[in-house]
Amino acid sequence: MSKPLEGIKIIDFTHVQAGPACTQLLAWFGADVIKVERPGAGDVTRSQLRHVKDADALYFTMLNSNKRSLTLDTKTAQGKEVLTKLIKESDVMVENFGPGALDRMGFTWEHIQSLNPGMILASVKGFSEGHAYEDLKVYENVAQCAGGAASTTGFWDGPPTVSAAALGDSNTGMHLAIGILTALHQKVKTGKGQKVAVSMQDSVLNLCRVKLRDQQRLDALGYLEEYPQYPHGEFSDVVPRGGNAGGGGQPGWVLKCKGWETDPNAYIYFTIQGHAWAPICKALGKPEWIDDAAYNTAEARQDKIFDIFAFIETWLADKTKFEAIDILRKFDIPCAPVLSMKEIANDPSLRKSGTVVEVDHPKLGKYLTVGSPIKFSDVEVEITASPLLGQHTNEVLADLGYSQEEIVALHDAKAV
Ligand code: COA
Repeated sequence: MSKPLEGIKIIDFTHVQAGPACTQLLAWFGADVIKVERPGAGDVTRSQLRHVKDADALYFTMLNSNKRSLTLDTKTAQGKEVLTKLIKESDVMVENFGPGALDRMGFTWEHIQSLNPGMILASVKGFSEGHAYEDLKVYENVAQCAGGAASTTGFWDGPPTVSAAALGDSNTGMHLAIGILTALHQKVKTGKGQKVAVSMQDSVLNLCRVKLRDQQRLDALGYLEEYPQYPHGEFSDVVPRGGNAGGGGQPGWVLKCKGWETDPNAYIYFTIQGHAWAPICKALGKPEWIDDAAYNTAEARQDKIFDIFAFIETWLADKTKFEAIDILRKFDIPCAPVLSMKEIANDPSLRKSGTVVEVDHPKLGKYLTVGSPIKFSDVEVEITASPLLGQHTNEVLADLGYSQEEIVALHDAKAV
């Protein structure tokens, strides 16, 4: 079966995580993604946090599957010539260099367009064009701080906290992938390429929009009813950190289960969804709360929500997180165990769905990666190993029309 993006050729000028996450996704769906890397070194993540000597690090292999690797020194005249040919033959070029790097290399947007008017140039930067900080280089946590995630994450008595989720990196890459697919769709109608730009700050903020919602509600009311600070605590004029409170209208919290004293993940997330109040009371053995006016509306529960959570913890004390979920699921209560990475790695459901995949790599051996979180009825996503540095250099050059002698000369000149 042919893949949906088969025939789309992508110059993958990306490194670290934000760009590679985007191009990996497009490669899974069938695009021919040619990762362009500096000869000798390649993407810095090939050697970052290695756990097997001389093999590519998991940081690289887990973000660059299904791609081809071309080594190319684009600061040499010969390297620029190869890139020029590649630009003429490709549909998309993705890059996440520091601000201005592509221009300094001699490949401005105007020049790229003159070489290939159909080209889609997709860029990730820390901040958007024209932003006061547009000159800054940015990594994950910098973006989380600038995008509103850090100031609103963590506990109220602790400092701003970054999330383990790659809101700045992979999330920005996913936004960029949507932008690229949109531009490809528009090109079908117009025949023209365009520039697609996504900033890490904007992408983080896009996921933090409910916190901007809360700022406006706080400005208007002076309090936020769903935050743990209400009704007993104090609010200032900025959205506070809400610990593990739910971001919507349903109060929720992380609750201790049997074994929490020694197991750091013996917890569940429990949500008190309004219309599930009766089943919750039944599940907890508290049928008298169902019609008790002191409990039976969200408003009535508000000032004792932490007493209710404390009661649920006493109910959970003799149940493991999995036993608790098995009971609560029968009552239709929105809840889940807090899963450790070890549990996720070994979860049979995630293996079965292809979300956690085992890949065989020629140097690293077998490793786990995260497969496509997007499931299709008519597309099968097969995850293959990431390429070795320069594994496809000669193949890509031959595709571009270089003869064997010319390829040898490019190697001798250290341009590839
Ligand atoms: N051949 C020759 N030179 C190459 C090359 C190649 N194949 N690939 C990259 N380079 C050069 C670039 O031309 C640039 O040179 P210059 O600065 O002399 O013009 C340099 O390598 C790369 O610079 P830069 O991208 O700024 O790397 P860095 O390691 O200093 O910074 C980041 C890394 C991630 C902080 C920076 O790239 C950045 O801010 N990117 C945008 C936001 C982003 O994506 N952040 C990371 C998310 S994971």
